[in-house]
Amino acid sequence: MKPRLLKIVNVVGARPNFMKIAPLIRAMNNRKDCIEHILVHTGQHYDKSMSDDFFIQLEIPEPDINLGIGSASHAEQTALIMMAFEKVLLQHKPDLIVVVGDVNSTIACSLVAAKLGIRVAHVEAGLRSFDRTMPEEINRILTDAISDLLFTTEESANENLRKEGLPEYKVHFVGNVMIDNLVYCLNKIQNLGLSFSDLKENEYALITLHRPSNVDDPKILMRILNAFGEISTKIKLVIPLHPRTQKNIEDFGLAKQMQAIAENAIITGPIGYLEMLRLMKTAKLVITDSGGLQEETTYLGIPCITMRENTERPSTITLGTNILVGNDMDTLLSNAGQVISNYHKHGEIPPLWDGMASVRIINQLIANS
Ligand code: UD1
Repeated sequence: MKPRLLKIVNVVGARPNFMKIAPLIRAMNNRKDCIEHILVHTGQHYDKSMSDDFFIQLEIPEPDINLGIGSASHAEQTALIMMAFEKVLLQHKPDLIVVVGDVNSTIACSLVAAKLGIRVAHVEAGLRSFDRTMPEEINRILTDAISDLLFTTEESANENLRKEGLPEYKVHFVGNVMIDNLVYCLNKIQNLGLSFSDLKENEYALITLHRPSNVDDPKILMRILNAFGEISTKIKLVIPLHPRTQKNIEDFGLAKQMQAIAENAIITGPIGYLEMLRLMKTAKLVITDSGGLQEETTYLGIPCITMRENTERPSTITLGTNILVGNDMDTLLSNAGQVISNYHKHGEIPPLWDGMASVRIINQLIANS
């Protein structure tokens, strides 16, 4: 008799989810003897440049179901995802759902599954910034509290879950699926040149900025843009703008600041994963408020300055190349100046960031089924 297959629903919603689900789907496809799976996209991110392009570049199959939820307030977005996802689970009756990261889709879908008695596996569990003004921190704490399997990327996460009283048997330290994807894609871009003809390797700073705490307040955003203007007098900048940042620059009337930066910068809309990885690989410096870039630069050994007061990924600081500068522009400028003059911290790759995390996760899913 054929063994019963473990039926899994994989969930994605927003841009940072796509690079995490891609290696998991590849690993699941290698275990078709044990696993059948479908992919649900909540549609939290929907622009071609924030969603579809990533599916193509990361070789993610078309979602079996797209809930098409789109942008809304946090409560409305979360509620709409929950209502639509409940119907999916009632129809498909999986044994397990897999959620990744910390976006609104992650908590919305976990909550629906937990209440239907369907097991939840959370990939990238246990990360904590200890800053509950971040929507992602609320999403992380709640998702972990109701998950059955908690897959962690670093030692701090194991400790956080222990302190929150989550049972040891649920926690599996497996490494970092985002690094699995990075390792896979580095091969693909081996011979790829820089896509902007006027850029030279190691002679530019790559900048990304999208957190509400940095871009939603006109005064803060203006100070940040002024600081970028100053850095652009020392090194060429490449700035792929998130839609939220782009919109706020227009709404707050900050075109003048952008013009000053543009004299020595390439400013674009969102770019694809492979282009981003290519730019990161030979950047002199990365300045960011993203979670993912902190980890990717640590793996690549590229100096990273993070414009946040805290990070939920402390191994990028204790082991990696990351430095936190918060909202202090003087600290940003002095740190950027040091890196530009070749004085910067060298890091090491954290344990188990070796390209094999997805395989470890799939083995655990099968063992726990
Ligand atoms: C979300 C995640 C954040 C992640 C980020 C990466 C939450 C709480 N936040 O934040 O953790 O780092 O994604 O991008 O889930 N927009 C578009 N097109 C899109 C998507 C968004 O124009 O495809 C615009 C809309 O104006 C929208 C705004 O961006 O209102 C914010 O989008 P949203 O998904 O609410 O949050 P992000 O800031 O992208």
